[in-house]
Amino acid sequence: MKFFADTADIAEIRELAETGLLDGVTTNPSLVHKAGRNFLEVVREIAAVVDGPVSAEVVALDHQEMMREAEVLRKIADNIAIKVPLTPDGLKVCRALTNDGTMVNATLCFSAAQALLAAKAGATFISPFVGRHDDFAFDGMQLIADIRLIYDHYEYPTQILVASVRHPMHVVEAAKIGADVMTAPPKIIHQLFKHPLTDVGIAGFLKDWEATGQAII
Ligand code: E4P
Repeated sequence: MKFFADTADIAEIRELAETGLLDGVTTNPSLVHKAGRNFLEVVREIAAVVDGPVSAEVVALDHQEMMREAEVLRKIADNIAIKVPLTPDGLKVCRALTNDGTMVNATLCFSAAQALLAAKAGATFISPFVGRHDDFAFDGMQLIADIRLIYDHYEYPTQILVASVRHPMHVVEAAKIGADVMTAPPKIIHQLFKHPLTDVGIAGFLKDWEATGQAII
């Protein structure tokens, strides 16, 4: 499973990149607002730090204007994936960019029907938002399972990018289903390391090691 960081905070991205576990980054207009940075500038910096796909979202809603924005964004770097909303215009842009060899991330997916349309439009990634789905008492993970089933059935190459991840169990459940990618806020990626028994175990081993009076030299 690939791990993407869902943030526009360059410091957080650099820290995660150093772990060697980061495969890409996703941004959205809200994350850019939170980072308080110039959009094009921060995307350029992120794309230089991370080798994998960096999603940058268009904000226009009509086909022509979306294409114009996508042109600006894809010129930033070769690893930019253009994020388009799951609308008829968005998927029209998706088809055009895909035909042109540009990665596309179809975002704001809340149904298996939408995921099917995105695959047919040739999206590189489909982003079902599990957390926001759960917020309305719909089962976000069932949506991931349904999309997996459909994509496998027709061997669609579109990668399932689990988005709106709120806690470590979302990551584990998505991995059990066989999602290709998950994108999570850095805090959640750091939480994946944690287990109290690991900390207790380390403390116990260190205590006993000190008692041996030895050193590894
Ligand atoms: C990722 O591409 C999405 O924009 C993101 O995961 C949304 O997460 P949220 O529901 O926590 O805002």
